Amino acid sequence: MSSIKTEVQKYYGETLKTSQDLKTSACCTPDAMPGWIKKILSQIHDEPMAKYYGCGLVVPHSLEGAKVLDLGCGAGRDVFIISKLVGEKGEVVGVDFTNEQLASARKHQDWHREKFGHTRLNTQFLNGDIQDLLALKLKPNDFDVVVSNCVVNLVEDKLKVLKDVFALLKEGGEFYFSDVYASRRISEELQHDPVARGECLSGALYWNDFHQLAKAAGFRDPRIVESRQLTIGDEALAQKLAGIEFFSVTYRLFKLPKLEAACEDYGQAVIYNGGIPQSPAAYLLDGHHLFEKGKVVSVCGNTWMMLADTRFKEHFTFIGNFEKHFGIFPGCGTDIPYERSVGGSSAAGACCP
Ligand SMILES: C[S@@+](CC[C@H](N)C(=O)[O-])C[C@H]1O[C@@H](n2cnc3c(N)ncnc32)[C@H](O)[C@@H]1O
Repeated sequence: MSSIKTEVQKYYGETLKTSQDLKTSACCTPDAMPGWIKKILSQIHDEPMAKYYGCGLVVPHSLEGAKVLDLGCGAGRDVFIISKLVGEKGEVVGVDFTNEQLASARKHQDWHREKFGHTRLNTQFLNGDIQDLLALKLKPNDFDVVVSNCVVNLVEDKLKVLKDVFALLKEGGEFYFSDVYASRRISEELQHDPVARGECLSGALYWNDFHQLAKAAGFRDPRIVESRQLTIGDEALAQKLAGIEFFSVTYRLFKLPKLEAACEDYGQAVIYNGGIPQSPAAYLLDGHHLFEKGKVVSVCGNTWMMLADTRFKEHFTFIGNFEKHFGIFPGCGTDIPYERSVGGSSAAGACCP
């Protein structure tokens, strides 16, 4: 077993008992979140809440009846939230390789089934390495959504994870996940530091390398839902990592094989008709696309596909087609595309990340 794998298992199985033991805010979601998610959180058992080490919100809209996979599910907080949203006809599968985390999650499956009034269990927890998802006998082209919260940074072969996720998703499905990214590439030495890695920092990918890997795995247009800069409160750790900026970012990567490498303009537009649960007045596809109900909004070809060829289709009216090309869609950025909390601002463009 690789040393990184053993160190990570030790960190999450033995070192950390609850989120109070974390040394940084990397594995930690800020309190601000929509009221409808807070309401579900109030129904989650205390143990998965206390053993939560995620860094963002991985709860996309329109999950009723969906089949969802959670990579590195830990003690299962997100699996249980999503099990309420997919309902009795849906299914949520959590995968993790740390026995202690899985044992804790499994203890509360039936408790949540009863709490949510489901007559059948719609959660399942599997022991496995997310770098070898296909070994778990999960069916290709079977999942509507794959989520993950602060896990991919911990693994060595990130491209393999992305490729397996692409294989497991249905066409039109998406990988909706929060993770940590760095402003530059991180040295091998730091990557093997057990605390810096365990705290979800030194395994983080340089953001532009992540974009290239995502594209190589088939996810041609990664979209940023939200991002925030992390602060490292622990003095010794901050010294070790000096010069590197870290960001917690939620991406959505759609499996849509016709997506183009850039945002192209075909003169198309869409209108949001309402109806997406918890989004009566407007729907936020990503940090650059808010669709107010009833408003005609110009979109690039890729955004069109993210709405027309996915579970969101029934909620939109589509104007135009792909027959005539008008050039590149205006405003694609090239600098670091995240929100900075200090000394600068995001240079992201109007459409591309
Ligand atoms: C930062 S915690 C996040 C846990 C959970 N997603 C949450 O939000 O509470 C990272 C989790 O990923 C798991 N993990 C890390 N690398 C893994 C791998 N290669 N395969 C499976 N699980 C992994 C760890 O065991 C740990 O439970």
